[in-house]
Amino acid sequence: MATNITWHENLTHQERSDFLKQKGVTVWLTGLSASGKSTIACALEQSLLARGLNSYRLDGDNVRFGLNKDLGFSEADRNENIRRISEVAKLFNDSCCITLTSFISPYKQDRQLARELHEKDNLPFVEVYVDVPVSVAEERDPKGLYKKAREGLIKEFTGVSAPYEAPESPEIHLKNYEGVSVEDAAQQIIQYLQDKKYI
Ligand code: ADX
Repeated sequence: MATNITWHENLTHQERSDFLKQKGVTVWLTGLSASGKSTIACALEQSLLARGLNSYRLDGDNVRFGLNKDLGFSEADRNENIRRISEVAKLFNDSCCITLTSFISPYKQDRQLARELHEKDNLPFVEVYVDVPVSVAEERDPKGLYKKAREGLIKEFTGVSAPYEAPESPEIHLKNYEGVSVEDAAQQIIQYLQDKKYI
């Protein structure tokens, strides 16, 4: 815990937003591995950039190559993973970026922390539940991880040997199976952002 530190004020979020003519918002995708979070976030990022809006994606696997390379998949490490990402997402949001996060974020309490960190500074936070049954994710298994988890080669694998606590009242509940395309999913989120006048 650092001591003898002082917070420096600069522009308010509103002043920055007026200069940049863009609002910040965090779109927090949560769901099982292979639910489609990263794919949807990529489509969304491209679609927003194509409209001339600044958007940036923070991705579970990618962030673990750098910022969070010291963390594994125990409950405590996942808590810390999400805590750090919540803080980073908040900074991106404050810089008026449309910030997309795609982390399993399996624990309700961690997602609640992310929300509270944003809301206490009046930064918009949109939770998107990318919902697929474990059986569907396991059938897709693009990285072969469910297979390894079933064989006991990966411990504490979400949906197999570690919990996923589904959101009860996300802003958007995307059932990402049975013929829902990536474009449909991204479009649902864009529609929500437009309806709320975030974009
Ligand atoms: S989280 O639970 O802490 O939010 P995060 O989204 O960062 O997880 O990372 C999940 C990704 O790590 C998965 O998509 C998968 O590729 C990989 N992974 C490796 N081991 C595990 C595991 N034990 N449980 C879940 N995902 C794992």
